[in-house]
Amino acid sequence: MTDLRIVGGELVPPAGGRRHLLSVADLTREDLERLLSTARSFARSQERETKKLPTLRGRLVVNLFYESSTRTASSFELAAKRLSADTLTVKSSGSSVDKGESLKDTTLTLSAYDPDVIVIRHPEAGAAELVSRHTGAHVVNAGDGKHQHPTQALLDLYTMCEAFGRLDGLRVAIVGDVLHSRVARSLVQALDLVGAESILVGPPTLVPTGLAPVSHDIAAIRDADVVYVLRMQRERMLAGANFVPSLREYSDLWGITPARLRDGQRVMHPGPMNRGVEIESSVADSRASLVVDQVRAGLVVRMAVLYDLLTAGPVALEAEVGVA
Ligand code: NCD
Repeated sequence: MTDLRIVGGELVPPAGGRRHLLSVADLTREDLERLLSTARSFARSQERETKKLPTLRGRLVVNLFYESSTRTASSFELAAKRLSADTLTVKSSGSSVDKGESLKDTTLTLSAYDPDVIVIRHPEAGAAELVSRHTGAHVVNAGDGKHQHPTQALLDLYTMCEAFGRLDGLRVAIVGDVLHSRVARSLVQALDLVGAESILVGPPTLVPTGLAPVSHDIAAIRDADVVYVLRMQRERMLAGANFVPSLREYSDLWGITPARLRDGQRVMHPGPMNRGVEIESSVADSRASLVVDQVRAGLVVRMAVLYDLLTAGPVALEAEVGVA
């Protein structure tokens, strides 16, 4: 672990070297391409009967989840295990968070075990950055409020690249509740970094301006190679605010149905899906759907992120994984 200085009670990371993954803004195009290529090597290693690699033996990955999660939590845990790291999962319910412990104190407590990585999901924007100020561990943001979800963007790019064989020039329509979506914010930035295009499609109440081009016409999705569907994130909406007249009307106007798609388009969704609201089951389960591929990509991309933060890079990886 790198040396840390303590200044005014706060940990100061050493200059140089990427210590954390808090936002897509932390990544260069080169970083992104290296991570996707590392993930591809891990995908090949996962085709073998013995899937576990010794790479991170003796390392500790703490998963700190203050919000519900199925895909993100399970894939980070499995990613760490497939790399032979120890894992410790702390969920806010059932922990001292229930007793009012602050995020800072929980971070200081868990940091006493000297973890190598803390993976954090939290309902407040900026939570991952706060954790990074109070620990010597590398911090990975697994979703902070409606701010960022960088590993989701990486796994989405990985999935698109596998499906289309390229990212440059790919057209992605992100449909639905962009306003409350950390997934959309990270994805737009990541697509921009690799030369792909995004357009945000949905009702004016749910699509902010200034992130990417916007359309309030569902027909705009027909020009896209990928239709990326978002859930109505009601838990992040202000209490009492009505962003749509009713879910029924939302689904009539904006729901992704087979009739709204054209041949050759692929459909993605970060999950959890609300079938019958933003996406019809007949689309979610169709050959156009990449939803299960996204989940599979989540494992190898998170292995790549842990590997990238903790080890020496692609040269060491070839020796480790045994694939050229
Ligand atoms: C997303 C999230 O939590 O931001 N889910 C995920 O990580 N796969 C999207 C959502 O909750 O709608």
